[in-house]
Amino acid sequence: MSDLAGKRILIVGAGIWQVPLIRRARALGLFVIATDRDPDAPGFRDAGASVVVDVTDGPRTLAAAREWQVQAVATDQSDAAVPTAAFVADRLGLPGIGRDVAHAATNKWAMRERCRLAGLDLPRYRRALTLGEARDALLDVGLPAVVKPADSQSSRGVRIVEGENALEPAFLAAMSHSRGREVLVEELMRGEECSVEGVVDGNGPRALTLSRKWKSAPPHRFDTRLIYPGDFPSHIRRSAFECSESVIRALGVPFGVTHTEIMIGPDGRCRLIEAAARGCGSRVASDLLPILVGIDVSEMLIRLAFGETPQAEPVECAEMCLLQFLYLPPGTVREIHGLGGARQVPGVIDVAFTVDVGRQIGSITDGRSRPGYLLAHARSQRELDVVASRALEALLVHVEDPSGRLMAVGGAQLVAWSEAVGPGQGSDRSPLPDPMAQVWSRCSHAQLG
Ligand SMILES: Nc1ncnc2c1ncn2[C@@H]1O[C@H](COP(=O)(O)OP(=O)(O)OP(=O)(O)O)[C@@H](O)[C@H]1O
Ligand SMILES: [Mg+2]
Repeated sequence: MSDLAGKRILIVGAGIWQVPLIRRARALGLFVIATDRDPDAPGFRDAGASVVVDVTDGPRTLAAAREWQVQAVATDQSDAAVPTAAFVADRLGLPGIGRDVAHAATNKWAMRERCRLAGLDLPRYRRALTLGEARDALLDVGLPAVVKPADSQSSRGVRIVEGENALEPAFLAAMSHSRGREVLVEELMRGEECSVEGVVDGNGPRALTLSRKWKSAPPHRFDTRLIYPGDFPSHIRRSAFECSESVIRALGVPFGVTHTEIMIGPDGRCRLIEAAARGCGSRVASDLLPILVGIDVSEMLIRLAFGETPQAEPVECAEMCLLQFLYLPPGTVREIHGLGGARQVPGVIDVAFTVDVGRQIGSITDGRSRPGYLLAHARSQRELDVVASRALEALLVHVEDPSGRLMAVGGAQLVAWSEAVGPGQGSDRSPLPDPMAQVWSRCSHAQLG
């Protein structure tokens, strides 16, 4: 029985990405009060008590926390819940990251400003609240630029702007996804992207591992694949770790799990894209980090939320992990086959479609609209290739296209987008070797019906 047994924790958010934290808390014997605006949120099934309230609603979440007399509050894998968790902790005098830090870690303008004051190397950036300001910002920043909401997630409303004519639609798209109606216009950094996953324990920020990323084709910029650990030379890995730790220090994150996205320039220069005071989504923090570095970050986060001071002791586990997002063409999902078989492939951690049968899917323009994911691990890239290809081969999805034609989508078609662009770049479009290329070409293409 854990020393935490019987204590009460509020977990803000009960969507699929909070399920691992809720389950970990329960496994530690905690009584979990979970909140979510969706009465059918999957995390509610594992929680001791469920409160239907939006994760951004601080006052009502606080009321629930008071009613249940919680002794800790935590959240994971979702930016929207971070300020609410900080607010509740603050008001109840519980361990929290603080409201200012939560703001700086979820508002990309405040984040850039803090990093600038700390003297960090940043791209040119300007904030715009109106289209006129965005035009002025573009004059300062120059073309090509990135236009994005200051406070959103999953690449919603993020666009590359290559000409002045593209500014207005990009600004309007970004604005429509900004909770606080703030838009950023930034210099388009070129290079390869990675994310650094870390923790802040009693010793301060600590980078643990980094990914190499594959991105969608421009103008959208969502992730299509992440491989851990990214196969960068050790001096690049060190620079990325240093960049991440400096950013987390500049933001003042006092404890918790962190996720930093970094652009590695052709000259090895590492610059911040954005950072988060929460674990990387899609279950990277909860499911992949224990395999990669031997740290149960969910438990660590829970213990930190109770005011304990656990120390992160990462170990090199010699494992590789894959997060592969799955693609489906626009249409209506009619049948999904093979999930059970794919999950049984040794090395598969999980594979799922986040769309149900009967759901209509449009073209995929951001992380939120990606219809599925595959998480896998293996001892080498070769083994990872085999695990992934076997899992993909097991899957077959029937999609009815808008003209009523039935398509069978499986195997390599489910990852077509990663092949279209290649790893990391996209913005400079330089072809880079794809370590998974062989495996995807071995995957058979399903017949079109
Ligand atoms: N200044 C920039 N230069 C180059 N690329 C950028 C820049 N800003 C954003 N991007 C690209 O756009 C993507 C999404 O931007 P960002 O991470 O800021 O938004 P987000 O909504 O938090 O997305 P996600 O949740 O997918 O990480 C980045 O991963 C990166 O590929
Ligand atoms: Mg991002």
